[in-house]
Amino acid sequence: MRKPFISANWKMNKTVGETGEFINSFLPMVKDVTDVDMLIAPPFTSLHAASRLLKDTGVKLGAQNVFYEEKGAFTGEISPAMLLSAGCSCVIIGHSERRQYFMETDEIVNRKIKTARENGLEVILCIGESLNEREENRTFEVLDRQLSGSLKDINLDAMTIAYEPIWAIGTGKTATKEQANEAHAYIRGWLKKNREGADTLRILYGGSVTPENVAALMSEPEVDGALVGGASLKPDSFAKIVKGARKQ
Ligand code: PGA
Repeated sequence: MRKPFISANWKMNKTVGETGEFINSFLPMVKDVTDVDMLIAPPFTSLHAASRLLKDTGVKLGAQNVFYEEKGAFTGEISPAMLLSAGCSCVIIGHSERRQYFMETDEIVNRKIKTARENGLEVILCIGESLNEREENRTFEVLDRQLSGSLKDINLDAMTIAYEPIWAIGTGKTATKEQANEAHAYIRGWLKKNREGADTLRILYGGSVTPENVAALMSEPEVDGALVGGASLKPDSFAKIVKGARKQ
């Protein structure tokens, strides 16, 4: 069985001080949770402070982005080694907001995954279709393209995939559990056909996950966890999502 995995993507929210306040109030709420893997991905500026507070707890630390070069004249960018030294073990790559606002293509995503993994970081790869693409029945075609482009020459070691339909992100419009399961099953089918180890890889759902809808989503066989934006910003809300993710 795949262990549930709940990850917080804070996006561009929380100062260093706010990060500390969150973690100090969140940790006691989840101290007995051992059956769900947890990860928090704060902004770069909070990573180091967060890593001190999360040390020796069951909560892992992730970054929201990374660059594909190891070092050099790339003003404003952050390397995998920098993330590791700040205490991260994982990085989110290819989020739709990065693709939309920062022009990240599947080729760039592919290079980022390669460099991150060569340096020993785990990766959460995000994929998902837009509203237009879903309405034109092109969801599977888009997933095919994103999977083959992003995972070119990459195996599934230390990899998690997050299916995040763009129309569900930050909109309050969650995919139904059937829609999520169908897309996850399609992704796993693609991986089984093209890679080793697809059975144990976890596929997370992302897009307006809340304490109210997480249990229903998790009741689907192909939904192994969630990548949570808005509802991960408050400790009690995120703790409820973690607890609601336990498989029945
Ligand atoms: P949301 O964001 O939970 O606010 O919809 C999810 C994400 O973008 O990872």
